[in-house]
Amino acid sequence: MTFITDIVSTNVHQSSISAIKDMAMLSARIEGAASLTWGLPSFRTPEYIRRGVKQYLDEDLDAGKYTLTDGLPELRELVVAEHKKKTGIDVDADENVMICAGNMQSLNTLFHTMLDPGDEIILTDPCFASHIQQINLFSGKPVYWPLDENNNWSLDIDLLADLITDKTQAIVLVSPSNPTGKIFSKDELIRVGEIARSHNILIIIDDPYSDFVYDNSDKYFNLASVKELKDHLVYLYSFSKSYAMSGWRLSYMVMPAELKREALKVHDATMICAPRISQLAGMVALSQPSDHIQAFQTILHSRRELICQRLDNIPHVFANQKPEGAYYVFPEIMASHTNSKEFAIDLLNKTRVAVTPGSAFGPSGEHHVRMAYCVDEDTINLAFDRIENYF
Ligand SMILES: Cc1ncc(COP(=O)(O)O)c(C=O)c1O
Repeated sequence: MTFITDIVSTNVHQSSISAIKDMAMLSARIEGAASLTWGLPSFRTPEYIRRGVKQYLDEDLDAGKYTLTDGLPELRELVVAEHKKKTGIDVDADENVMICAGNMQSLNTLFHTMLDPGDEIILTDPCFASHIQQINLFSGKPVYWPLDENNNWSLDIDLLADLITDKTQAIVLVSPSNPTGKIFSKDELIRVGEIARSHNILIIIDDPYSDFVYDNSDKYFNLASVKELKDHLVYLYSFSKSYAMSGWRLSYMVMPAELKREALKVHDATMICAPRISQLAGMVALSQPSDHIQAFQTILHSRRELICQRLDNIPHVFANQKPEGAYYVFPEIMASHTNSKEFAIDLLNKTRVAVTPGSAFGPSGEHHVRMAYCVDEDTINLAFDRIENYF
């Protein structure tokens, strides 16, 4: 062992950066690569938010200072109103709302707060790759709940109860899902809520994508709107995607009061507070009409049509199921290959097209790839021209 390996924790040493970022880094080193790896929207933070922040910087003498650990009271009040609008549920800004630096940091705070070594968190399979990493980093155990691929990746409720043990702490849900784009049905979600409540486990809703549901808005259901679940559910909302603010690092959690009191200890010791300038941006975002979201949806909707059409043209390479929301497709690899990682690396080397291997998203993701269609249409077309030429 080298000195460095020796001093690094086993959890970190055995972990790796997510395949999403890994492929993004590999493709950044290849000149002219067309990258569909990272869910980083091509949009710029809307003008009204940038303008509002400039004004705060000029006029607010406190703009450069720490905030309270749970965030600016004014922002937390805006979150209370937003949550009421989204879910119909009343929450309290002091008791239930915590401002964080992105959903990744919210999740990190939660897992740090909840996990003792060996504790289990149920993840859908496939799931967002970073959930797996975060749980492992805190010596927890991800427990995979296979989705039903034959039913366009819906939840298989019959499998859930058997996965719950006395070590289970929580179930994490993302709808619309990353990487499959599936919107879980209201009935299924309500069943998950009932099961979680009856076993006294927490539901964590990680929500970066609920604004991207296109023609499926009637299918979307926010489980945080079930008032019986108020003490069993944490709702995490990210500003990264809907407000094109991924670099600002801003999110909020709506959570049971007792859990907030515990999580604040972790947040205080690790972050102190989310960056104040980003919290001010969040105040602008939540206090003005967010008309830009409709424009983002229209653009993403047409990119979804484009990528699905391009995938349908190459059935010998990929078999695709049309996603309902978010901005990912998760086709099965039909071309000859060994595993999704080798396929993705080979594709990058041979065609200069970067995709994320499906195995990064859990065992059921093997033999698939994830493509993010939040990039501009030229990049999508360039990537598919190259794939079509190669196969
Ligand atoms: C499911 C999911 N959770 C969390 C994140 C990260 O969100 P944030 O930028 O708020 O940390 C992403 C980003 O792609 C995601 O897809």
